[in-house]
Amino acid sequence: MALTAAELIRADQDHLIHPLHHPIDNAEPVIYVRGRGAMVQDIGGHEMIDGLSGLWNVNVGHGRVELADAAAAQMKELAYFSAYVGSSNIPSITLASKLVELAGDMQGIFFTTGGAEANESAFKTARFYWKAKGKPDKIKVISRQHAYHGVTQQAMSATGMAAYWKMFEPRVPGFVHIPTCYPYRVQEGKPGETAGQTAARLLEEAILREGPETVAAFIAEPIHGGGGVIYPTDDYFPLVRQICDRHQVLFIADEVITGFCRTGKWFATSHWNVKPDIRVFAKGVTSGYLPLGGIMVSRAIKEAIDGVKPEDRWMHAYTYSGHPTCCAVALKNLEIMEREHLNENAARMGDRLYAGLREAFKDHPHAGDVRGGKGLLAAVELVEDRASKRNFAADKKVAPRIQAEMMKRGVITRVRAVAGAHPAPGDTVYYAPPLVVTGKEVDQVVSVSRDAVKAVLGV
Ligand SMILES: Cc1ncc(COP(=O)(O)O)c(C=O)c1O
Repeated sequence: MALTAAELIRADQDHLIHPLHHPIDNAEPVIYVRGRGAMVQDIGGHEMIDGLSGLWNVNVGHGRVELADAAAAQMKELAYFSAYVGSSNIPSITLASKLVELAGDMQGIFFTTGGAEANESAFKTARFYWKAKGKPDKIKVISRQHAYHGVTQQAMSATGMAAYWKMFEPRVPGFVHIPTCYPYRVQEGKPGETAGQTAARLLEEAILREGPETVAAFIAEPIHGGGGVIYPTDDYFPLVRQICDRHQVLFIADEVITGFCRTGKWFATSHWNVKPDIRVFAKGVTSGYLPLGGIMVSRAIKEAIDGVKPEDRWMHAYTYSGHPTCCAVALKNLEIMEREHLNENAARMGDRLYAGLREAFKDHPHAGDVRGGKGLLAAVELVEDRASKRNFAADKKVAPRIQAEMMKRGVITRVRAVAGAHPAPGDTVYYAPPLVVTGKEVDQVVSVSRDAVKAVLGV
Protein backbone atom coordinates (compact mmCIF):
# COMPACT_ATOMS: atom_id res chain seq x y z
CA MET A 1 0.00 0.00 0.00
CA ALA A 2 1.22 3.49 -0.80
CA LEU A 3 2.56 5.51 2.12
CA THR A 4 0.44 8.38 3.45
CA ALA A 5 1.83 11.92 3.26
CA ALA A 6 2.71 11.81 6.95
CA GLU A 7 4.53 8.48 6.55
CA LEU A 8 6.45 9.80 3.56
CA ILE A 9 7.59 12.83 5.53
CA ARG A 10 8.73 10.64 8.40
CA ALA A 11 10.63 8.34 6.05
CA ASP A 12 12.19 11.35 4.31
CA GLN A 13 13.47 12.65 7.64
CA ASP A 14 14.72 9.23 8.69
CA HIS A 15 16.53 8.19 5.54
CA LEU A 16 16.95 10.75 2.80
CA ILE A 17 20.02 13.00 2.84
CA HIS A 18 19.16 16.02 0.71
CA PRO A 19 21.42 18.37 -1.23
CA LEU A 20 22.72 21.01 1.24
CA HIS A 21 21.21 18.90 3.96
CA HIS A 22 20.08 20.08 7.34
CA PRO A 23 17.04 18.62 9.08
CA ILE A 24 15.65 22.09 9.89
CA ASP A 25 14.94 22.53 6.19
CA ASN A 26 12.93 19.35 6.00
CA ALA A 27 10.80 19.66 9.08
CA GLU A 28 7.86 20.12 6.71
CA PRO A 29 9.10 19.09 3.26
CA VAL A 30 6.92 19.87 0.27
CA ILE A 31 6.49 16.66 -1.68
CA TYR A 32 5.93 17.39 -5.37
CA VAL A 33 3.99 14.86 -7.36
CA ARG A 34 3.00 16.31 -10.72
CA GLY A 35 3.90 19.01 -13.23
CA ARG A 36 2.41 20.47 -16.39
CA GLY A 37 3.91 23.39 -18.29
CA ALA A 38 5.02 26.00 -15.76
CA MET A 39 2.80 24.55 -13.02
CA VAL A 40 3.54 21.90 -10.39
CA GLN A 41 1.39 20.24 -7.78
CA ASP A 42 2.27 18.96 -4.33
CA ILE A 43 1.01 15.86 -2.57
CA GLY A 44 -1.77 17.87 -0.94
CA GLY A 45 -3.08 18.97 -4.36
CA HIS A 46 -1.81 22.58 -4.17
CA GLU A 47 -0.99 24.05 -7.56
CA MET A 48 1.98 26.40 -7.84
CA ILE A 49 3.85 28.28 -10.54
CA ASP A 50 7.34 26.88 -10.83
CA GLY A 51 9.23 30.15 -10.75
CA LEU A 52 12.64 28.48 -10.96
CA SER A 53 12.08 25.70 -13.54
CA GLY A 54 12.78 23.00 -10.98
CA LEU A 55 16.39 24.01 -10.37
CA TRP A 56 16.88 26.30 -13.39
CA ASN A 57 16.61 23.31 -15.68
CA VAL A 58 13.06 22.38 -16.76
CA ASN A 59 13.30 24.69 -19.76
CA VAL A 60 10.59 23.06 -21.92
CA GLY A 61 8.23 22.83 -18.95
CA HIS A 62 6.82 19.89 -17.04
CA GLY A 63 4.82 16.92 -18.27
CA ARG A 64 6.20 16.51 -21.80
CA VAL A 65 5.00 13.09 -22.89
CA GLU A 66 7.26 13.25 -25.97
CA LEU A 67 10.31 13.15 -23.72
CA ALA A 68 8.99 10.18 -21.79
CA ASP A 69 8.31 8.44 -25.11
CA ALA A 70 11.82 9.22 -26.38
CA ALA A 71 13.32 7.69 -23.23
CA ALA A 72 11.07 4.64 -23.40
CA ALA A 73 11.83 4.04 -27.09
CA GLN A 74 15.59 4.22 -26.52
CA MET A 75 15.41 2.04 -23.39
CA LYS A 76 13.50 -0.61 -25.28
CA GLU A 77 16.13 -0.57 -28.02
CA LEU A 78 19.37 -0.15 -26.05
CA ALA A 79 19.09 1.55 -22.68
CA TYR A 80 22.82 1.67 -22.04
CA PHE A 81 26.11 0.65 -23.46
CA SER A 82 29.57 1.94 -22.66
CA ALA A 83 31.03 4.67 -24.85
CA TYR A 84 34.57 3.82 -23.68
CA VAL A 85 37.42 3.10 -26.08
CA GLY A 86 36.14 1.63 -29.31
CA SER A 87 32.40 1.76 -28.51
CA SER A 88 29.84 4.34 -29.52
CA ASN A 89 26.09 4.74 -29.86
CA ILE A 90 23.74 6.54 -32.22
CA PRO A 91 22.09 9.05 -29.81
CA SER A 92 25.40 10.35 -28.46
CA ILE A 93 26.91 10.75 -31.92
CA THR A 94 23.78 12.51 -33.17
CA LEU A 95 23.58 14.75 -30.11
CA ALA A 96 27.26 15.73 -30.30
CA SER A 97 26.77 16.76 -33.94
CA LYS A 98 23.61 18.68 -33.08
CA LEU A 99 25.31 20.56 -30.24
CA VAL A 100 28.24 21.52 -32.45
CA GLU A 101 25.74 22.82 -35.01
CA LEU A 102 23.72 24.81 -32.44
CA ALA A 103 26.79 26.30 -30.78
CA GLY A 104 28.41 27.29 -34.06
CA ASP A 105 31.73 27.97 -32.35
CA MET A 106 32.76 24.58 -30.93
CA GLN A 107 34.20 21.36 -32.28
CA GLY A 108 34.18 18.56 -29.69
CA ILE A 109 31.68 17.35 -27.10
CA PHE A 110 32.25 15.23 -24.00
CA PHE A 111 29.22 14.15 -22.01
CA THR A 112 28.85 13.93 -18.25
CA THR A 113 25.79 13.43 -16.07
CA GLY A 114 25.67 16.93 -14.57
CA GLY A 115 27.20 20.34 -14.15
CA ALA A 116 29.85 19.75 -11.49
CA GLU A 117 31.21 16.73 -13.37
CA ALA A 118 31.26 18.90 -16.46
CA ASN A 119 33.28 21.57 -14.67
CA GLU A 120 35.66 18.89 -13.37
CA SER A 121 36.05 17.83 -16.98
CA ALA A 122 36.69 21.42 -18.06
CA PHE A 123 39.42 21.96 -15.45
CA LYS A 124 41.14 18.70 -16.29
CA THR A 125 40.88 19.43 -19.99
CA ALA A 126 42.46 22.87 -19.48
CA ARG A 127 45.41 21.25 -17.70
CA PHE A 128 45.61 18.55 -20.35
CA TYR A 129 45.60 21.13 -23.12
CA TRP A 130 48.53 23.06 -21.70
CA LYS A 131 50.49 19.89 -21.00
CA ALA A 132 49.88 18.83 -24.60
CA LYS A 133 51.14 22.26 -25.69
CA GLY A 134 54.33 21.89 -23.66
CA LYS A 135 53.26 24.26 -20.86
CA PRO A 136 52.79 21.87 -17.93
CA ASP A 137 52.99 24.63 -15.31
CA LYS A 138 49.73 26.20 -16.46
CA ILE A 139 47.47 24.57 -13.88
CA LYS A 140 45.69 27.30 -11.90
CA VAL A 141 42.09 28.31 -12.39
CA ILE A 142 40.83 31.82 -11.72
CA SER A 143 37.18 32.09 -10.78
CA ARG A 144 34.99 34.77 -9.29
CA GLN A 145 33.34 35.64 -6.03
CA HIS A 146 29.67 34.60 -5.98
CA ALA A 147 30.31 32.00 -8.67
CA TYR A 148 28.50 28.70 -8.43
CA HIS A 149 30.16 25.89 -10.34
CA GLY A 150 28.90 22.86 -8.41
CA VAL A 151 30.19 21.16 -5.31
CA THR A 152 32.45 18.24 -6.14
CA GLN A 153 35.82 19.04 -4.58
CA GLN A 154 37.29 20.90 -7.57
CA ALA A 155 34.03 22.52 -8.63
CA MET A 156 33.49 23.56 -5.01
CA SER A 157 36.96 25.10 -4.99
CA ALA A 158 36.00 27.17 -8.04
CA THR A 159 32.67 28.12 -6.48
CA GLY A 160 33.03 31.56 -4.95
CA MET A 161 30.76 31.31 -1.91
CA ALA A 162 32.44 30.43 1.37
CA ALA A 163 29.38 28.72 2.84
CA TYR A 164 29.97 25.84 0.44
CA TRP A 165 33.58 25.38 1.60
CA LYS A 166 33.28 25.67 5.35
CA MET A 167 32.84 22.05 6.42
CA PHE A 168 34.81 20.57 3.52
CA GLU A 169 38.08 22.48 3.68
CA PRO A 170 40.81 22.41 2.58
CA ARG A 171 39.94 23.34 -0.97
CA VAL A 172 41.88 21.98 -3.91
CA PRO A 173 45.00 24.15 -4.33
CA GLY A 174 45.35 26.32 -7.39
CA PHE A 175 41.92 27.98 -7.40
CA VAL A 176 42.09 31.77 -7.15
CA HIS A 177 39.06 34.01 -6.60
CA ILE A 178 38.66 37.56 -7.84
CA PRO A 179 35.80 40.08 -7.58
CA THR A 180 33.12 39.59 -10.18
CA CYS A 181 31.43 42.08 -12.48
CA TYR A 182 28.66 43.22 -10.16
CA PRO A 183 27.48 46.60 -11.42
CA TYR A 184 25.37 47.27 -8.32
CA ARG A 185 28.27 46.72 -5.94
CA VAL A 186 31.53 47.49 -7.70
CA GLN A 187 34.70 46.68 -5.78
CA GLU A 188 38.06 48.34 -6.38
CA GLY A 189 36.70 50.56 -9.14
CA LYS A 190 38.73 53.46 -10.50
CA PRO A 191 37.19 56.77 -11.59
CA GLY A 192 35.84 56.59 -15.13
CA GLU A 193 35.82 52.80 -15.32
CA THR A 194 32.66 50.84 -16.07
CA ALA A 195 31.93 47.88 -13.79
CA GLY A 196 33.00 45.64 -16.66
CA GLN A 197 36.30 47.45 -17.11
CA THR A 198 37.03 47.24 -13.39
CA ALA A 199 36.28 43.54 -13.18
CA ALA A 200 38.24 42.82 -16.35
CA ARG A 201 41.21 44.78 -15.02
CA LEU A 202 41.07 42.76 -11.80
CA LEU A 203 41.21 39.59 -13.89
CA GLU A 204 44.29 40.79 -15.73
CA GLU A 205 45.94 41.87 -12.49
CA ALA A 206 45.25 38.43 -10.99
CA ILE A 207 46.77 36.67 -14.00
CA LEU A 208 49.87 38.85 -13.76
CA ARG A 209 50.10 38.40 -9.98
CA GLU A 210 49.84 34.62 -10.23
CA GLY A 211 52.12 34.52 -13.28
CA PRO A 212 50.52 33.83 -16.69
CA GLU A 213 52.80 30.80 -17.08
CA THR A 214 50.93 29.18 -14.14
CA VAL A 215 47.34 30.01 -15.10
CA ALA A 216 45.42 27.46 -17.16
CA ALA A 217 41.97 28.98 -17.28
CA PHE A 218 39.46 31.56 -16.18
CA ILE A 219 35.94 30.32 -15.50
CA ALA A 220 32.78 32.41 -15.38
CA GLU A 221 29.04 32.06 -15.68
CA PRO A 222 27.90 34.52 -18.38
CA ILE A 223 25.20 35.61 -15.92
CA HIS A 224 25.66 34.41 -12.35
CA GLY A 225 22.97 31.97 -11.25
CA GLY A 226 22.99 30.77 -7.65
CA GLY A 227 25.25 33.61 -6.49
CA GLY A 228 22.65 36.27 -7.27
CA VAL A 229 21.53 36.30 -10.92
CA ILE A 230 24.15 38.98 -11.41
CA TYR A 231 24.29 40.49 -14.89
CA PRO A 232 27.60 41.83 -16.21
CA THR A 233 27.89 45.06 -18.15
CA ASP A 234 28.01 44.40 -21.89
CA ASP A 235 31.67 45.35 -22.18
CA TYR A 236 32.87 42.75 -19.66
CA PHE A 237 33.08 39.48 -21.59
CA PRO A 238 34.63 40.99 -24.74
CA LEU A 239 37.36 42.40 -22.45
CA VAL A 240 37.71 39.03 -20.68
CA ARG A 241 38.23 37.36 -24.05
CA GLN A 242 40.96 39.83 -24.99
CA ILE A 243 42.73 39.42 -21.66
CA CYS A 244 42.58 35.63 -21.82
CA ASP A 245 44.03 35.73 -25.34
CA ARG A 246 46.74 38.16 -24.30
CA HIS A 247 48.00 35.84 -21.56
CA GLN A 248 47.21 32.46 -23.11
CA VAL A 249 44.57 31.62 -20.56
CA LEU A 250 41.61 29.47 -21.61
CA PHE A 251 38.18 30.99 -21.09
CA ILE A 252 35.67 28.48 -19.70
CA ALA A 253 32.05 29.68 -19.95
CA ASP A 254 29.91 27.85 -17.43
CA GLU A 255 26.57 27.85 -19.26
CA VAL A 256 24.94 25.26 -17.03
CA ILE A 257 22.10 27.69 -16.33
CA THR A 258 22.40 30.13 -19.23
CA GLY A 259 22.44 27.53 -22.01
CA PHE A 260 19.58 26.16 -24.07
CA CYS A 261 17.50 29.28 -24.69
CA ARG A 262 17.33 30.42 -21.06
CA THR A 263 18.59 33.89 -22.02
CA GLY A 264 16.69 34.05 -25.31
CA LYS A 265 19.63 32.61 -27.27
CA TRP A 266 20.98 29.10 -27.49
CA PHE A 267 24.03 30.14 -25.48
CA ALA A 268 24.54 33.33 -23.53
CA THR A 269 28.07 34.19 -24.68
CA SER A 270 26.57 34.99 -28.07
CA HIS A 271 24.94 38.09 -26.52
CA TRP A 272 28.41 39.57 -26.62
CA ASN A 273 29.81 37.67 -29.64
CA VAL A 274 32.35 36.02 -27.40
CA LYS A 275 33.67 32.55 -28.14
CA PRO A 276 34.81 30.56 -25.13
CA ASP A 277 37.48 27.85 -25.38
CA ILE A 278 35.34 25.49 -23.32
CA ARG A 279 31.59 25.82 -22.82
CA VAL A 280 30.15 23.86 -19.91
CA PHE A 281 26.53 22.72 -20.16
CA ALA A 282 24.01 20.58 -18.24
CA LYS A 283 20.49 21.26 -16.91
CA GLY A 284 18.54 22.58 -19.92
CA VAL A 285 20.14 20.13 -22.37
CA THR A 286 17.52 17.58 -21.27
CA SER A 287 15.28 20.07 -19.44
CA GLY A 288 16.03 17.90 -16.42
CA TYR A 289 14.04 14.91 -17.70
CA LEU A 290 17.20 12.80 -17.35
CA PRO A 291 20.62 13.76 -16.00
CA LEU A 292 23.07 14.98 -18.63
CA GLY A 293 25.83 17.56 -18.89
CA GLY A 294 29.09 18.03 -20.67
CA ILE A 295 31.70 20.27 -22.19
CA MET A 296 32.02 21.68 -25.67
CA VAL A 297 35.57 22.41 -26.70
CA SER A 298 37.11 24.57 -29.41
CA ARG A 299 38.77 23.18 -32.50
CA ALA A 300 42.22 23.84 -30.98
CA ILE A 301 41.39 21.78 -27.88
CA LYS A 302 39.78 18.99 -29.90
CA GLU A 303 42.91 18.84 -32.04
CA ALA A 304 45.08 18.70 -28.91
CA ILE A 305 43.00 15.82 -27.52
CA ASP A 306 43.21 13.98 -30.85
CA GLY A 307 46.85 14.83 -31.44
CA VAL A 308 48.70 13.46 -28.42
CA LYS A 309 50.52 10.12 -28.33
CA PRO A 310 48.34 7.18 -27.13
CA GLU A 311 50.29 7.01 -23.87
CA ASP A 312 49.44 10.66 -23.21
CA ARG A 313 45.77 10.19 -23.90
CA TRP A 314 43.01 12.24 -22.31
CA MET A 315 42.55 9.74 -19.50
CA HIS A 316 39.20 11.13 -18.35
CA ALA A 317 35.91 9.23 -18.29
CA TYR A 318 32.57 8.50 -16.69
CA THR A 319 30.52 5.31 -16.98
CA TYR A 320 27.56 7.38 -18.11
CA SER A 321 29.38 9.55 -20.65
CA GLY A 322 27.28 9.47 -23.81
CA HIS A 323 24.45 7.57 -22.12
CA PRO A 324 22.17 6.60 -25.02
CA THR A 325 18.87 7.18 -23.21
CA CYS A 326 19.89 10.56 -21.77
CA CYS A 327 21.18 11.62 -25.20
CA ALA A 328 17.96 10.48 -26.91
CA VAL A 329 15.94 12.59 -24.48
CA ALA A 330 18.25 15.57 -25.07
CA LEU A 331 17.74 15.28 -28.83
CA LYS A 332 13.97 15.31 -28.44
CA ASN A 333 14.24 18.20 -25.99
CA LEU A 334 16.26 20.25 -28.47
CA GLU A 335 13.75 19.39 -31.18
CA ILE A 336 10.96 20.78 -28.99
CA MET A 337 12.93 23.97 -28.32
CA GLU A 338 13.47 24.49 -32.04
CA ARG A 339 9.95 23.57 -33.09
CA GLU A 340 8.33 25.84 -30.50
CA HIS A 341 10.88 28.66 -30.90
CA LEU A 342 11.39 28.70 -27.15
CA ASN A 343 14.30 31.11 -27.46
CA GLU A 344 11.79 33.66 -28.76
CA ASN A 345 9.29 32.98 -25.99
CA ALA A 346 12.06 33.21 -23.42
CA ALA A 347 13.10 36.61 -24.79
CA ARG A 348 9.51 37.87 -24.96
CA MET A 349 8.43 36.59 -21.55
CA GLY A 350 11.77 37.65 -20.08
CA ASP A 351 11.14 41.22 -21.24
CA ARG A 352 7.68 41.09 -19.70
CA LEU A 353 9.03 39.72 -16.42
CA TYR A 354 11.80 42.30 -16.21
CA ALA A 355 9.47 45.18 -17.10
CA GLY A 356 6.92 43.91 -14.59
CA LEU A 357 9.45 43.67 -11.78
CA ARG A 358 10.89 47.10 -12.52
CA GLU A 359 7.42 48.63 -12.47
CA ALA A 360 6.38 46.77 -9.31
CA PHE A 361 9.51 47.82 -7.41
CA LYS A 362 10.09 51.21 -9.05
CA ASP A 363 9.62 53.40 -6.00
CA HIS A 364 10.04 50.73 -3.40
CA PRO A 365 12.25 51.97 -0.56
CA HIS A 366 14.01 48.61 -0.20
CA ALA A 367 14.43 47.56 -3.84
CA GLY A 368 18.17 48.03 -4.34
CA ASP A 369 18.60 46.41 -7.72
CA VAL A 370 16.23 44.78 -10.20
CA ARG A 371 18.12 42.60 -12.66
CA GLY A 372 16.96 41.03 -15.91
CA GLY A 373 16.61 41.73 -19.59
CA LYS A 374 18.20 38.65 -21.13
CA GLY A 375 15.52 36.01 -21.30
CA LEU A 376 13.93 34.34 -18.31
CA LEU A 377 16.58 35.10 -15.74
CA ALA A 378 15.83 37.88 -13.28
CA ALA A 379 16.31 38.95 -9.67
CA VAL A 380 15.28 41.56 -7.15
CA GLU A 381 17.89 42.49 -4.55
CA LEU A 382 16.52 44.06 -1.40
CA VAL A 383 18.43 46.32 0.97
CA GLU A 384 17.60 48.08 4.19
CA ASP A 385 18.81 51.43 2.90
CA ARG A 386 18.87 52.21 -0.78
CA ALA A 387 21.20 55.19 -0.56
CA SER A 388 24.02 53.41 1.27
CA LYS A 389 23.14 49.89 -0.03
CA ARG A 390 23.15 48.76 3.56
CA ASN A 391 21.88 45.21 3.79
CA PHE A 392 19.29 43.88 6.20
CA ALA A 393 20.66 42.04 9.20
CA ALA A 394 20.87 38.30 8.57
CA ASP A 395 18.69 37.48 11.56
CA LYS A 396 15.78 39.33 9.94
CA LYS A 397 15.75 36.53 7.36
CA VAL A 398 14.17 38.84 4.82
CA ALA A 399 14.72 36.72 1.71
CA PRO A 400 13.72 33.37 3.24
CA ARG A 401 10.54 34.96 4.61
CA ILE A 402 9.69 36.43 1.21
CA GLN A 403 10.24 33.00 -0.31
CA ALA A 404 7.80 31.50 2.20
CA GLU A 405 5.22 34.23 1.54
CA MET A 406 5.50 33.65 -2.21
CA MET A 407 5.03 29.94 -1.68
CA LYS A 408 1.86 30.59 0.33
CA ARG A 409 0.61 32.60 -2.64
CA GLY A 410 1.38 29.86 -5.14
CA VAL A 411 4.80 30.79 -6.57
CA ILE A 412 7.92 28.69 -6.00
CA THR A 413 11.20 30.53 -6.13
CA ARG A 414 14.63 30.53 -4.65
CA VAL A 415 16.46 33.24 -2.78
CA ARG A 416 19.89 34.11 -1.55
CA ALA A 417 19.84 35.24 2.04
CA VAL A 418 21.95 38.29 2.79
CA ALA A 419 25.61 37.34 2.53
CA GLY A 420 27.10 40.01 4.82
CA ALA A 421 27.63 43.76 4.74
CA HIS A 422 27.90 45.72 1.48
CA PRO A 423 29.58 44.87 -0.95
CA ALA A 424 28.31 41.35 -0.19
CA PRO A 425 24.95 40.71 -1.86
CA GLY A 426 21.77 41.55 -0.01
CA ASP A 427 18.61 39.47 0.25
CA THR A 428 17.82 38.47 -3.30
CA VAL A 429 14.80 36.78 -4.92
CA TYR A 430 15.41 34.80 -8.13
CA TYR A 431 13.24 34.24 -11.19
CA ALA A 432 13.79 31.60 -13.86
CA PRO A 433 10.45 30.07 -14.87
CA PRO A 434 10.17 27.48 -17.65
CA LEU A 435 10.53 28.90 -21.15
CA VAL A 436 6.91 27.98 -21.90
CA VAL A 437 5.61 30.29 -19.17
CA THR A 438 2.61 32.38 -20.29
CA GLY A 439 2.10 36.12 -19.97
CA LYS A 440 -0.59 35.55 -17.38
CA GLU A 441 1.74 33.39 -15.29
CA VAL A 442 4.52 35.97 -15.54
CA ASP A 443 2.15 38.69 -14.35
CA GLN A 444 1.09 36.45 -11.49
CA VAL A 445 4.73 35.90 -10.45
CA VAL A 446 5.28 39.67 -10.40
CA SER A 447 2.19 40.50 -8.38
CA VAL A 448 2.83 37.67 -5.92
CA SER A 449 6.39 38.95 -5.45
CA ARG A 450 5.14 42.43 -4.69
CA ASP A 451 2.56 41.13 -2.22
CA ALA A 452 5.11 38.87 -0.52
CA VAL A 453 7.58 41.72 -0.09
CA LYS A 454 4.81 43.85 1.41
CA ALA A 455 3.86 41.05 3.79
CA VAL A 456 7.45 40.81 5.05
CA LEU A 457 8.64 44.42 4.96
CA GLY A 458 5.32 46.20 5.50
CA VAL A 459 5.79 48.24 2.28
C1 LIG B 1 26.37 27.59 -13.22
C2 LIG B 1 26.35 26.23 -12.62
N1 LIG B 1 27.40 25.42 -12.81
C3 LIG B 1 27.43 24.18 -12.30
C4 LIG B 1 26.39 23.68 -11.56
C5 LIG B 1 26.48 22.32 -10.98
O1 LIG B 1 25.62 21.46 -11.63
P1 LIG B 1 25.18 20.09 -10.92
O2 LIG B 1 24.33 20.45 -9.76
O3 LIG B 1 24.45 19.38 -12.02
O4 LIG B 1 26.43 19.39 -10.52
C6 LIG B 1 25.26 24.49 -11.36
C7 LIG B 1 24.11 23.98 -10.58
O5 LIG B 1 23.21 24.70 -10.22
C8 LIG B 1 25.25 25.79 -11.88
O6 LIG B 1 24.22 26.62 -11.67
